Amino acid sequence: MSNSFSRRVPIEAQKVDAPLTSSATFLVVTVAEGADAADTVRDVISGIDDITKNVGFRDLDAQLSCTVGIGSRVWPRLTSRPAPVGLHPFTEFAGAKHTARSTPGDLLFHIRANRHDLAFEFERQLLDAFGGAVTVVDETTGFRYFDVRDLLGFVDGTANPVGNAVAESTLVGDEDHDNAGGSYVVVQKYLHDLDQWQALTTEQQESIIGRKKADNVELDDADTGQKSHKTLSTIVVDGVEHDILRDNMPFGSPGTSLFGTYFIGYSRHLWVTEKMLERMFVGDPPGLYDRILDFSEAVLGCTFFAPSADFLGGLADDPTPAPPTGPMSLDDYLGVGDAGSSPS
Ligand code: HEM
Repeated sequence: MSNSFSRRVPIEAQKVDAPLTSSATFLVVTVAEGADAADTVRDVISGIDDITKNVGFRDLDAQLSCTVGIGSRVWPRLTSRPAPVGLHPFTEFAGAKHTARSTPGDLLFHIRANRHDLAFEFERQLLDAFGGAVTVVDETTGFRYFDVRDLLGFVDGTANPVGNAVAESTLVGDEDHDNAGGSYVVVQKYLHDLDQWQALTTEQQESIIGRKKADNVELDDADTGQKSHKTLSTIVVDGVEHDILRDNMPFGSPGTSLFGTYFIGYSRHLWVTEKMLERMFVGDPPGLYDRILDFSEAVLGCTFFAPSADFLGGLADDPTPAPPTGPMSLDDYLGVGDAGSSPS
């Protein structure tokens, strides 16, 4: 991570800002009940760097990395350290027409590499090490499409923060000292109706996204009040713009008409990503939702916290965590009705 950040918080982050790679696998799992499963998970994820080195060393140019995210439900089973202050299950945002669905998931592995075989081998060794301690909920492998475009045909990722702004927007600082150097991670899996999307004119598509398709130049919103995706996902509070770091990946299979975008957003404050989701799904003003959703269905939605590398490495030595205080209801787990918190 950036030097300016490490001077302020001398804690090593996970590779949240790993370079854009040509391949990525997003693995979401749940952890089995029982102390044995929790012990196994603690051991495996605290030693994840060893698996990365073991596999990644065979081709350093492939830049294999893995970021581990921990969900709120499993947090107290894995560590006695305080949970990140903002961590809660994925908040479900239900708009008039579309819903940002909340789905189960205790751990996320964001595996990036320039060679799919390395990501594959890493995942194989990881799941071997877990044995029966975890159940895979979703495994999606994405690829970098030409010009860094998504499957809707637009260049995706342009407005990401760069340089020192990456750490500033993605890493928790002194506001939560116990979890400094970590990052909130939200993932969603979208399935596109490409036939419907391609039935639009290029100009209609461009006004939905807010950028021109060929040269990526930004466009103003229409006078009708309908905001573009770009505008709805721009969060400004008291004159300050709050960014997140995205590393979306297209995925799919033309042979089965499967076309999708796996969204992943890293942020210092969870409310920033949630505010984007609220504006997209509920709309601004309510009702004028993000038209990208008429062609993209969110079938998975999970929230995690990627703790610092130091925190992760020390998990195996953590004193046995206290048992959770009580059973969690399904609604609690899925975040249904949880409005999240933001300053506005
Ligand atoms: C179907 C899924 C999605 C697709 C295909 C998509 C695609 C795009 C594209 C093409 C852009 C314009 C270029 C760029 O700056 O990257 C963009 C911008 C952006 N998107 Fe998305 N996006 C999706 C979902 C989301 C979600 C769920 C969020 C946040 C919760 C989000 C947040 C953003 C942000 C913050 C920007 C930059 C806005 C700015 O110009 O400042 N996107 N997206």
